Amino acid sequence: MADPLAFIDLAAQRRHLGRAVDEAILRVLDHGLYVMGPEVARLEADLAAFCGARHSISCANGTDALALILMAEGVKAGDAVFCPAFTFAATAEAVALVGATPVFVDICQDTFNLDPTSLRAAVSLAKDRGLNPAGVIAVDLFGQPADYDAIEVAAAQEGLWLLCDAAQSFGASYKGRPVGTIGRATTTSFFPAKPLGCYGDGGAVFTDDAELAGVLRSLRNHGQGVDRYDNVRVGTNSRLDTLQAAVLIEKLRIFPGEIGARDRVANRYGEQLGDLAVVPKVMEGATSVWAQYTLRLPGRDRNAVQSFLAAAGVPTAIYYPVPLHRQTAYAHCPTAPGGLPVSDRLAAEVISLPMHPYLTEAMQDRVTAAVRAALSHRA
Ligand SMILES: Cc1ncc(COP(=O)(O)O)c(C=O)c1O
Repeated sequence: MADPLAFIDLAAQRRHLGRAVDEAILRVLDHGLYVMGPEVARLEADLAAFCGARHSISCANGTDALALILMAEGVKAGDAVFCPAFTFAATAEAVALVGATPVFVDICQDTFNLDPTSLRAAVSLAKDRGLNPAGVIAVDLFGQPADYDAIEVAAAQEGLWLLCDAAQSFGASYKGRPVGTIGRATTTSFFPAKPLGCYGDGGAVFTDDAELAGVLRSLRNHGQGVDRYDNVRVGTNSRLDTLQAAVLIEKLRIFPGEIGARDRVANRYGEQLGDLAVVPKVMEGATSVWAQYTLRLPGRDRNAVQSFLAAAGVPTAIYYPVPLHRQTAYAHCPTAPGGLPVSDRLAAEVISLPMHPYLTEAMQDRVTAAVRAALSHRA
């Protein structure tokens, strides 16, 4: 059998980058400003220019990015923050970390993203339980923005601020609005496997609000005020390393080309698999950066499909097998009335295929041929 394919191929990306990242790292080693060196401000400017946000504040990771905004908004015990349960733990974790209550909302089965109807029902439930509805964190799962027109209306009617967790979608857009310019603020992650990843941990916040941006800059650096030795609020240490900023500056240059390549892979997968499996759909007017390419296999034995593909050298992953409301740390948190049937069902149906910009057409064909073989086996 040919060698197994890579699920995400950072080595291929490194070859494509040539010496650019090596040289960028060497420049940092030469100037030695490892914390808040010049590359940090330069990256922030580049990121803001890329997505059109007025302010871009880098930080240590995507989880901190969420927590920093919650801290800036003064979210506290007794507050309810609404978020999907079909997401990575960090979304709800940030809420719990500031002492507030995550209230879980169901998702739409076609997009895997927050369902505005379920959001409204969850807000009533939270009020009935004596919680103070504070805000909503919409997640752009697998790279596609949530349905922001509908979510913004629901959030405004319920008096909630809107935070966009774009850990998986930086580089995408919603009806002409780039991710990073929607809501009160947007967060992203530069974890290595993300569409725009660094070589370690990293994250950023985007906002158009100058005052909020100032508070976030202070919070990520121990609550520092204008005078370096006068800490004006309780903050934390959540700065992005200069080395990671230097890596990201180089990776951002090739990011638009990579997004195009991801889209081509997704389109070919869709063409070749759409008759056999439920392939992901991008909403009219939106674009995805395809952090994951996730099929739904209703009525199939997913484990058998996964084993068949592994034997054919096609790695797969399950994002996410257990929604947060079923996980030990979050099982006590409220859910929208009636539970989260769509999240539960999709957690049992999904399977993600190899997805990265360096998948050749031959590799893509190998993936789709193996999936077709697995599914025609009535696995
Ligand atoms: C939806 C979502 N939110 C938040 C995070 C947290 O990002 P990080 O791993 O950089 O803390 C991730 C990624 O890991 C994520 O996928």
